[in-house]
Amino acid sequence: MEVVVEPLGLVLRASPGANLLETLRTNNVPVSYSCMAGRCGTCRCKVVKGTVLETGRDAIKSDPRGDGHVLACMSVLTESCAIEIAEPDEVITHPAKVFKATVTSIEAMTHDIKRLRLRPSKPFVYSPGQYALLQVAPDMVRPYSMAGLSTDDELEFHVRLVPDGRVTGYIDEKLKVGDSVRVTGPLGTAYLRSRHEGPMLCVAGGSGLAPVLSIVRGALESGMRNPIHLYFGVRTPTDVYGLQWLDALASRHSNLNVQTVVTSGSGEDQAMRSGIVTEAVAEDHPNLNGWRAYLCGAPPMVEAASLLAERRGIAREHIYADAFYASNS
Ligand code: FES
Repeated sequence: MEVVVEPLGLVLRASPGANLLETLRTNNVPVSYSCMAGRCGTCRCKVVKGTVLETGRDAIKSDPRGDGHVLACMSVLTESCAIEIAEPDEVITHPAKVFKATVTSIEAMTHDIKRLRLRPSKPFVYSPGQYALLQVAPDMVRPYSMAGLSTDDELEFHVRLVPDGRVTGYIDEKLKVGDSVRVTGPLGTAYLRSRHEGPMLCVAGGSGLAPVLSIVRGALESGMRNPIHLYFGVRTPTDVYGLQWLDALASRHSNLNVQTVVTSGSGEDQAMRSGIVTEAVAEDHPNLNGWRAYLCGAPPMVEAASLLAERRGIAREHIYADAFYASNS
């Protein structure tokens, strides 16, 4: 049985029943992976000829767009097939691990966003834009994106407090400095593509600023000279936070342009635009050909931004968004 790997044109020999990710890894095919358990989506690839058998009841939906994608770690080979791996030159392999971290600070950023900082018990390597599962109490686990970089001493997360949310309520009222948090990660596919040299569109809604900060810092601190257009969308001026970090980055890097867009009540504040964040992007950029987009925030915003990005010329596979925000509570 053969597995043809596109776009590399490699032909691998495999036995029926072999796991696709294992087959790729043992043949040194450059493929990204992390959790190896169908949870993170990092190993997603496309079956372009033949079929594979997908397993795993708990796996995330591997093919939300219905165009032949599977999770390699959950796929079993049953016949000869051809698969296409995404961006073979942008491979990240940070096997997910589980470790303890200690809460070092919990700080209010707005009326409903807390900045949670943790000191990890062991080095934690991740790519800018990835996320981790935080277990703050025995049955309280939620995904949150890292707001910093692997090189930072501490991990930083931005937690939006959901009204009557069980887990965020616990973080708000019970979690305290010195407590232990169990971290699983890194996970996620919306990480910085560092080999891309064209313009980057980053759209953050509310606490979606966390992964976008990580991506922008990661790009700038690694010397990427790409024009970066960051749009930060919030409902009202009281939802705005982190402008001091964005201003500091923009003052040091002329390739970063930051727009803060407030849906209602921006008043006379010259530093903010009024309106919907996706409309601001549409107004500024009629053509996004050759760009990459990083989107993070509430699902309706991400969907609208994704549609806009595609209509203005960004290929689907170059629009990066991890859709876990809906599950936070
Ligand atoms: Fe396959 Fe995480 S490595 S879904």
